[in-house]
Amino acid sequence: MLFQGVVIAGQRVDLRVREGCIVAVCPVEGVGMKALHPEGGEPVMDGGMLTPHFAEPHCHLDAALTGERSPNRSGTLHEGIENWSSIRDGLTTEDVLDRARRAVDWYVSWGATRIRTHVDTGSMVAVQALLELREALKDQVEIQVVAFPQEGILRAPGRREAWEAAVAAGCDAVGAIPHFERTHEEGRESVRMAFALAEKHGCQVDLHCDETDDPESRNLEVACEEALTRGWSDRVIAGHCTAMHSYPDDYAAKVIEMVVASGVQVVANPLDNVVLQGRNDGYPKRRGITRVDELWAAGATVGIGHDSVVDPWYRLGTANLVDAAYMLLHVAQLTQEDEMRRVFETLHTDNHRCFGGAPVLQVGAVASFLWWDAVDPIEVLRSRPRPRVFQAGVAVGPTG
Ligand code: FE2
Repeated sequence: MLFQGVVIAGQRVDLRVREGCIVAVCPVEGVGMKALHPEGGEPVMDGGMLTPHFAEPHCHLDAALTGERSPNRSGTLHEGIENWSSIRDGLTTEDVLDRARRAVDWYVSWGATRIRTHVDTGSMVAVQALLELREALKDQVEIQVVAFPQEGILRAPGRREAWEAAVAAGCDAVGAIPHFERTHEEGRESVRMAFALAEKHGCQVDLHCDETDDPESRNLEVACEEALTRGWSDRVIAGHCTAMHSYPDDYAAKVIEMVVASGVQVVANPLDNVVLQGRNDGYPKRRGITRVDELWAAGATVGIGHDSVVDPWYRLGTANLVDAAYMLLHVAQLTQEDEMRRVFETLHTDNHRCFGGAPVLQVGAVASFLWWDAVDPIEVLRSRPRPRVFQAGVAVGPTG
């Protein structure tokens, strides 16, 4: 197949695919010019833009598509956790697999073929189901599973053991929820326990970190300290970090310095957090989004997650990462031209970090990419169209 006059990273090129791989990429000199010509009845796609596939660094496939079962009346994180725990205790393997697979199909249809999901370790049914799904779909979608103790590790007997059992069952990363533990001390202890457990099993670490409006919630610094001490510069994600929105500026600057030094990746989840945060505020209401502009300015690596897809925390959602990017650029006011481009680019670059890095569209690479009718990322953000998803040179559909 030949892609003529297609834009890659702002450059117009002709690109040829043979036997599932990219075999030629040639710059096009001027409008209407051709660098490559169709050979022997080869199909041709004219114009458009190619990007690598997207990666989803933060979602919850075990809870996906349960939003109508227990509506969140207060709109808070805490009611979401309560509502989810009543759903979770009645889960069956078939139910989890059915919903998770449907959510994965939505992700793939919007161009995400690497998906990191948290799973609540309060349900071994859910843990086993998502590990099974990871295996069943491994030829189509790369799934990573994070052992996430939704209700904390130290708040009640049995939770630590369930969390450890989930990691031992084969999860890819160890999660924690330090701001939901009973005290600041227990929160910090839970972060250290997560690192120790990850060390024991050779896993990554992926925390729900300081997902609160409380400016005293300061577990991110503990995660950075642990990552620095262990030299785990590319092995740790701190998700949400919404307390940073409310930190005093001097403290925010200090902790951002530690984020950069440690290599911890901060993942913002703007769809959930713009809804969940600020619920105890009168007016003005805080937006509760981590400081993406300041993190970028300091040299930190930031990811953008969709997080919930129709669940007790966020009743809406499409599994389209461009929706999350669109929300982020609004609520974080990242609307300069270069900021909008960087927000879009994050979906196919830094979002891949926990999977070992971003794919590059070059000669010799597998021909897995997204084809967009628009040639400008800002237009994709504005109109949020569905891309054509190519995997090893073939347009793909649902996972079946
Ligand atoms: Fe989450």
